[in-house]
Amino acid sequence: MPDPELADLDSVLAELTLEEKASLTLGSAFWHTAPVERVGIEAIMVSDGPHGLRAQLEEADHLGLSSSVPATCFPTASALGSSWNPNLFNEVGQALAREARACGVSVVLGPGINMKRSPLCGRNFEYVAEDPWLAGELATPMVQGLQSLGIGTSLKHYAANNQESDRLRVSAEVDERTLREIYLPAFERVVTQAQPWTVMCAYNKVNGTYASEHHWLLTEVLRDEWGFEGLVMSDWGAVHDRVAALAAGLDLEMPPNHAISRDAVVDAIREGRLDEAALDTAVRRVLRLVGQARPARAEGGEFDVEEHHRLAHRAALESAVLLKNEGSVLPLAPASGSTVAVIGEFARTPRFQGAGSSQVNPTRVDVLLDELTTRLGSDVTVRFAPGFALESVDTDSGLQEEAVAAARDADHVLVCLGLPGSAESEGFDRTSMDLPANQLALLDALAAVHDRLIVVLANGSAVTLSTWEHRAAAVLECWLSGQAAGGAAADLLLGRANPSGKLAESLPLRLADCAASLNFPGDSGVVRYGEGLFIGYRNYDKAELEVSHPFGFGLSYTTFALADLDVRVGGTVAGGDLAVSVAVSVTNTGSVAGAEVVQVYVRDVETTVARPVRELKAFTKVWLEPGETQRATVSLDERSFAFWSIVHHRWVVEAGEFELGVGTSSRDLPLAETVTLDAPSIAAPVGRDSTLHEWLADEQGRRLLLELDAPLLADDHLVSVIGTMPMTTLAAFGMGLDYPTLDRLTSQLSPN
Ligand code: BGC
Repeated sequence: MPDPELADLDSVLAELTLEEKASLTLGSAFWHTAPVERVGIEAIMVSDGPHGLRAQLEEADHLGLSSSVPATCFPTASALGSSWNPNLFNEVGQALAREARACGVSVVLGPGINMKRSPLCGRNFEYVAEDPWLAGELATPMVQGLQSLGIGTSLKHYAANNQESDRLRVSAEVDERTLREIYLPAFERVVTQAQPWTVMCAYNKVNGTYASEHHWLLTEVLRDEWGFEGLVMSDWGAVHDRVAALAAGLDLEMPPNHAISRDAVVDAIREGRLDEAALDTAVRRVLRLVGQARPARAEGGEFDVEEHHRLAHRAALESAVLLKNEGSVLPLAPASGSTVAVIGEFARTPRFQGAGSSQVNPTRVDVLLDELTTRLGSDVTVRFAPGFALESVDTDSGLQEEAVAAARDADHVLVCLGLPGSAESEGFDRTSMDLPANQLALLDALAAVHDRLIVVLANGSAVTLSTWEHRAAAVLECWLSGQAAGGAAADLLLGRANPSGKLAESLPLRLADCAASLNFPGDSGVVRYGEGLFIGYRNYDKAELEVSHPFGFGLSYTTFALADLDVRVGGTVAGGDLAVSVAVSVTNTGSVAGAEVVQVYVRDVETTVARPVRELKAFTKVWLEPGETQRATVSLDERSFAFWSIVHHRWVVEAGEFELGVGTSSRDLPLAETVTLDAPSIAAPVGRDSTLHEWLADEQGRRLLLELDAPLLADDHLVSVIGTMPMTTLAAFGMGLDYPTLDRLTSQLSPN
């Protein structure tokens, strides 16, 4: 990829006036960077979005209001995330790049990798997972796919943008360890592995400072620690103080606030409030981005609409999660002359994407009802009844009665339920996880006349299943699976394809089980992430809560067996080369081809800090013919065992036992092996304010105390009672030592 040398950038920079430089750090229009024709700097175009291009050539908005150039609508992130397939993310990334090239778009504004802190976040459909490792592992190949074809990405929304309520102002109050272990690692992974051309800052504040002005986030962590080389752009309208943002490391303001920003920067430099070097740095990054975009802009390209639709279809097949299949009611095999009742407006009016800035104008849309009818042919009667009105929660008794009549004597009954567009979108959060009341009432009524209902779901984020799942024999969760969702669902229902999706987010029994609900979406301008590390399965596992379906779960039309776990530890933590390889044999024990996702979770058995019960640290998806066995191998490194120490402000591994659980969901880990890792001590050095326990746990401290031969140390019970007291307090009480003795002991400690 031609990447203009810094020397070239510097010579361009030297030709620019202060005003021109300032204007380069703002866009020129809604979707364009600023040109400086005088010195041959062209404008480049950026466009949403994460699962399909939303290139607006005329009227611009960032809310999905005005139309855009027709583009392939791939499954949204919550759907594609359920594929657990990095290669698929790469293929979709490449397809997005081809479409971007065809439209003259240089940077695609995605992928979105914010954590699903609560099922209620209105934009969960745009986010990959509730787990940082999974989100990072899947988004990395998407960025690589796009950028391999000369199109940039904008990793978003950095950081802690986990709700829509008050999203432009709210302060996400997140402690250091939670940020490092939950909200930052997916960004870190993508940045370090794929170097996205750009990162988009979030709208919200993080611990009181707007993300757009957050020097620690934008410069210290992103660049100094992770080595990010690209450009940071603002989310649309996220800049409040252009000068503060520039100083913090925000290179490009989008869209431009022409009335204020350029002059504010120029004045600040002239008045000595902003170092011109900060502006020059941002300008260099803009120039570099324009340079990176040049080859693809010059070459252009086109894309094959049909081929991309086929990819969207394949992606939708892999995104669906089979949640229940009692008595193998699926796949459907309707006999000649039989009747299939297809109930639910969604079968005719598909919901396949979410609303807002990611809304794509699809090249075509597959409709489940039509796709099923075509595939079933004329020997099978398909009877459709809408059952409910989409944009209402009230039961329409006429529609419901018609649906019940259609289902009553049908051989097979499909019930297409889901969330209407008005229920979830960018811009607002949901207030409940429940399906609309009229749909649930319909399901009740259908269950009274038919005992093998097959529910097909279309929704962007988790919905409650526990109140109605017992009424269904089978449940196929299709998420918002893009323009080919209808055909893919038909193939899955009829067994022309085998479901292989796995939940990338837990399905709790009820919203109240989600610990984040205690503080969601916050109030008075603040949302406190009081649950800390415990979102998603980390919460349900720690609190020992039943769930409807756990993270990582998904059924298949075949069965798999895992055997012969082999774990090998190589290298050491101290040597910085720890590598733990995990191998397991996976066999397809059923009669159709299918795919299984082998998942590896790590549990810290001996820990001095609060840790999740288990955390996903590796996975691999394996495709197997009936009877076939393959050896799946993954590898873990030091980070897989580490936690973020708020004492040392870095990742640390605590020596001791770790259990590796290997299986096919976070709650189905039939194989396990414990490894014992040696690691340098992570205890903080002891001093005057350390407790008696801490002194006794420290090698030097213990030796010095024992040399004192104080009688109190001989009394174990007394030591456990006073052990939590700082040494200074013990000295004040004259308990076994006095201040001069403490000073002497402290002076004898050598720094470790
Ligand atoms: C969204 C971004 C999007 C931008 C441009 C904002 O409202 O938060 O995700 O990329 O608009 O449409």
